[in-house]
Amino acid sequence: MLFTVFLFLLISASVLSSNSVTNAVNGEQYIFDFTGPDGVEGWQEQSDTVRSVGMSKAVLVMHQNTEYKRAIFFALLNPQTDGSGFAGVRALRKYDDLTGYTKLQLRCRAQGQFNGFKVVLRHKDLNDEPNYSFEQFFQGPENEFAVRDLPLSEFNAYYRGQQVSNETVDVSQITSIGIQMYGGVYEPVKQKGPATLEIDWIKAV
Ligand SMILES: *[C@@H]1O[C@H](CO)[C@@H](O)[C@H](O)[C@H]1NC(C)=O
Ligand SMILES: *[C@@H]1O[C@H](CO)[C@@H](O)[C@H](O)[C@H]1NC(C)=O
Repeated sequence: MLFTVFLFLLISASVLSSNSVTNAVNGEQYIFDFTGPDGVEGWQEQSDTVRSVGMSKAVLVMHQNTEYKRAIFFALLNPQTDGSGFAGVRALRKYDDLTGYTKLQLRCRAQGQFNGFKVVLRHKDLNDEPNYSFEQFFQGPENEFAVRDLPLSEFNAYYRGQQVSNETVDVSQITSIGIQMYGGVYEPVKQKGPATLEIDWIKAV
């Protein structure tokens, strides 16, 4: 009996350690796992306040029930007529050094009138204007969950919605991760109105 228990412990321990070895080999890291340990503490709104304070609104909230647990980004975007404006949330902290990872992945689903979003990174504690943000646009998967890949080498420098250089984010010193719905002032498609993005997790791979 004791021996069986011992054997069981030994096997469990080796399964556990081989899992973590596999993760290290695969090079995956959850940055936010809303299906698991993470909540939305630390996320704060950052919406357009440049021209008319309070034009747009965004929140990130948990949605948890007996079936699942995830975060939902709700945005209501009231842009200027030229499309300038954004509604977003961000989480400021010193993130782990992501050197060696090639992309961010989001497992998400978009529902609403428009499904264009962007992930906005900042580095070196340069978390506010006039310092640049490092942005990448993506289309949220409509009506079903899917994984979106955002290559880390393609987060270019933007200032108020416009790409300003080919400088890319320093992945070793990320200090802000944000999600925005954008009006699209410099984009071919202009967006406005309500949008939602349900998010299971954000990973570096
Ligand atoms: C960040 O913004 C400050 C002004 O607040 C400026 O002095 C500094 O040069 C900027 N740094 C970079 C790297 O753009
Ligand atoms: C980025 O690099 C390309 C190719 O070198 C260049 O044509 C483009 O103007 C650059 N973009 C910016 C915003 O500097």
